[in-house]
Amino acid sequence: MKPIAMLDLKAEFPLIEGKVREAIDGVLASQHFVGGPQVGEFENRIAQRVGTKHAIAAGSGTDAILLALMAGGISSGDEVITSPFTFFATAGCIHRVGATPVFVDIEPDTFNIDPAQIRSAITPRTKAIIPIHLFGQCANMEAINAIAADANLLVIEDAAQALDATHKNRNAGSLGHFGCFSFYPTKNLGGFGEGGMVTTDDDASAERCRQLRNHGQTDQYHHEFIGGNFRLNTMQAAILSAKLDRLDACNTRRQEIAAQYDQMLAAIPAIRTPVIDANGTSVFHQYSILADDRDGLREHLAKASVGSGIYYPVPLHRQPCFKHMGYNEGDFPVSEATSTRILSLPVHPMLCDADVKRVAEQVQLHAASQTVAGSTGR
Ligand SMILES: Cc1ncc(COP(=O)(O)O)c(C=O)c1O
Repeated sequence: MKPIAMLDLKAEFPLIEGKVREAIDGVLASQHFVGGPQVGEFENRIAQRVGTKHAIAAGSGTDAILLALMAGGISSGDEVITSPFTFFATAGCIHRVGATPVFVDIEPDTFNIDPAQIRSAITPRTKAIIPIHLFGQCANMEAINAIAADANLLVIEDAAQALDATHKNRNAGSLGHFGCFSFYPTKNLGGFGEGGMVTTDDDASAERCRQLRNHGQTDQYHHEFIGGNFRLNTMQAAILSAKLDRLDACNTRRQEIAAQYDQMLAAIPAIRTPVIDANGTSVFHQYSILADDRDGLREHLAKASVGSGIYYPVPLHRQPCFKHMGYNEGDFPVSEATSTRILSLPVHPMLCDADVKRVAEQVQLHAASQTVAGSTGR
């Protein structure tokens, strides 16, 4: 039986090969590998797409978050509120600028930071909130922005997984002071290597990001402050621009697949399909279900040659590197419970309807076997 993988970049490549090779040839012909018009063009296209005045290309999504934190003046002694159920980069970057990540639990439905719990985490040291738009769906930015405005906090959107997602008809990355995107190869818009982007409407912040990504250089070899090498290379910018034309179609296909899964999995009591907030749209970077017998289901799928993923098995407050912060098991019960039940199913745009049906049928089959055994765990 043909394996169904979580991602199939090889299947997609023939569809983009011509444009990508042309883009690479252009860079090779110019022999210009850092900066250049390709980076500017890609930045302009992302700014336009997101709906911000500026987009500043960065070497990765992690670099984009670092840049936003540095440009936002976050440093030693500051606290930054974020959620623990996510990829490591967000909290890692907060720590790297010398600040302390302060975790707030997630909403059980969307897996995004729970705005109702943010206010009680604010202290005189709090400088910013980083909501993460997990799995392709925006956090409740309206509520978060209201809290931030009251407490005079910066809002940095971790939109690494959410290019083109919307909240109240506005795009991820245009909802806070900064938006941070990743173009890691597995992302909905993935490069042929690392890549990232910061978006902002603020002229001074954009200028600061541009300087910081180039070692804080204001004039050549003149450094007013310390930044780093956070630049996106020319080849990646050219490739990402070439791939951008297909992004709408790819996101639409992801949404279609999600709708098919929703329909086929809705009636299974031991499964909860993704909940999408009526105030927004998801680009389904992941299609993540909650399953009572998550590990058994994952094993069952693997035997049927169906890939799946656990994003994320260990919430950040339980990571050994953050042990010194003194968090304990039980501190963020929703994140902890979610990490034991979450399972992402293949949702990449190269899946055909028959693939989707096969995945869903395998999930159904496993659920039926559990019901027969009387052990759905409910
Ligand atoms: C939520 C989130 N934040 C940040 C990042 C970091 O992006 P990158 O891997 O491009 O550094 C990622 C992606 O990997 C992510 O999923």
